[in-house]
Amino acid sequence: MTANKENMTAKSVGTKCFQNINALAPMVRVGTLPMRLLALDYGADMVYSEELIDIKMAQCQRVVNEVLETVDFVAPDERVMFRTCKKEKQRVVLQMGTADPDRALAVARLVENDVAAIDINMGCPKEYSTKGGMGAALLSDPDRIESILRTLVNGVSKPVTCKIRILPTLEETLSLVKRIESTGVNAIGVHGRFKDERPRHPVHCDFIKAVSENVSIPVIANGGSLDLIKDHADIDEFRRVTGASSVMVARAAMWNPSVFRSQGLLPLEEVMKEYLKYAVRYDNHAFNTKYCLCQMLRDKVESPMGKQLLSAQTNEDICEAYGVQDYYKKTQAELQTRRDAMETNLSDPNHPVLDGDVTTMRVKFERREYPGEFSPKMFLLEWSRKENLEQPTYETVQRMQDRAFQSIVTMAGNKYRSTLWEKSKKFAEQAAAIVCLRVLGLPEGRVGEEYSGLVGKRKREEKRMDAPGEEDISVECGARKRHSAELLVSSGEPTIPNGVKHKTSTV
Ligand SMILES: Cc1cc2nc3c(=O)[nH]c(=O)nc-3n(C[C@H](O)[C@H](O)[C@H](O)COP(=O)(O)O)c2cc1C
Repeated sequence: MTANKENMTAKSVGTKCFQNINALAPMVRVGTLPMRLLALDYGADMVYSEELIDIKMAQCQRVVNEVLETVDFVAPDERVMFRTCKKEKQRVVLQMGTADPDRALAVARLVENDVAAIDINMGCPKEYSTKGGMGAALLSDPDRIESILRTLVNGVSKPVTCKIRILPTLEETLSLVKRIESTGVNAIGVHGRFKDERPRHPVHCDFIKAVSENVSIPVIANGGSLDLIKDHADIDEFRRVTGASSVMVARAAMWNPSVFRSQGLLPLEEVMKEYLKYAVRYDNHAFNTKYCLCQMLRDKVESPMGKQLLSAQTNEDICEAYGVQDYYKKTQAELQTRRDAMETNLSDPNHPVLDGDVTTMRVKFERREYPGEFSPKMFLLEWSRKENLEQPTYETVQRMQDRAFQSIVTMAGNKYRSTLWEKSKKFAEQAAAIVCLRVLGLPEGRVGEEYSGLVGKRKREEKRMDAPGEEDISVECGARKRHSAELLVSSGEPTIPNGVKHKTSTV
């Protein structure tokens, strides 16, 4: 398939996942993992994260949390900015607040393998968003909108969408959405309110309808919670009235996420207990758990249950208030068992852990442990030759906050990576090679292994004839290619933001 055709196919697949769907709309503090999972359980097709600001996300490190079985994006101060899990991988849309195409791309690439799509917030009228040129401020800067969306559409493999508010006139609104459509985005969310309107104002279904009639990508209608959407049947009616392909629901879902249930709403107390179970299972911050439950209680926060909730400090306290302490204890015990097992495994540096399709180990390349002439990379290369396999290939990323490197080596179709970051690209590649060699049970050139016979006499002779530095050893035709790739890193190329792919190099 040609690249163009591949893009077309990816695009149409991406567009399909926004056709005829009901989605949980992005909501700050509300759209965290427990709420998203609950909305999916009740029938939502897609779930949006809360708005995550590009600058904060760009500083995050992607961490596989083996105890919780989640992928966490962790800020330098250890705060988890975004937590996700396998159950929502095909359904979660990460909403980003951005005003900068390059930074947006860096963040999108950081998360693209863990989410279903990327959405850009162009509707938030709050000052914290608009003063940085983000959110609704973008609505008056269509050039920037176009630049951000085109950069993302061309730069990531996942569908890209955006969520706007309507502009003062229909003409302006239609002109904007047509321009947005021309960037190649897969869908457009339309909150049918003007920038200055408050959530209590009636939604302008006529504007959403006009947008639906004038673009060919799916329109996701939004803004119907207050007076139109009370249950699942109302979501369908909102779709019909707005002529939109899809609907996204914010407040009605925040008040009772079972709004997505085609069989009708569930009693709030039952819904709150289910929410709480997810909060416990995924170690949600108690402050956030409390906030979401308070939103569900609405005017009942003054009730005895509400007061108990308000005085709770921990997830355990909240569970007690809701009579689910047995679930809390059982889940804590299970998590502790996993934690203990992980600690045992972690103390064994040779314990491989699968992260997606990459086998990982906690390995650091300590040069002094490899005093011989041959590096782990050379051992791996020589082994691949002996086995008539394709040469190993290395793909390296550099993260923004400390400029450290991490490599993945692909050998015989399998990928290997160390979970530790290294100070140079060369070391990162060596660490990846070590992981691969250890998993395959092969010698790696550590003290006492140098002359295992894997790296043959020919290699030693090549080395002696060549330059003294280990990485300068010419390995047949691979050498020239490798040199140029490595020069790109060492010759002061601009720092590549968190998680952005570096050059692929072969040994
Ligand atoms: C608590 C809360 C947080 C919100 N946070 C976001 C956000 O992070 N990003 C966004 O685009 N809109 C956000 N919104 C707006 C909603 O996504 C939605 O556009 C608005 O509430 C209208 O939809 P509704 O009538 O279904 O509530 C938020 C709304 C609420 C109530």
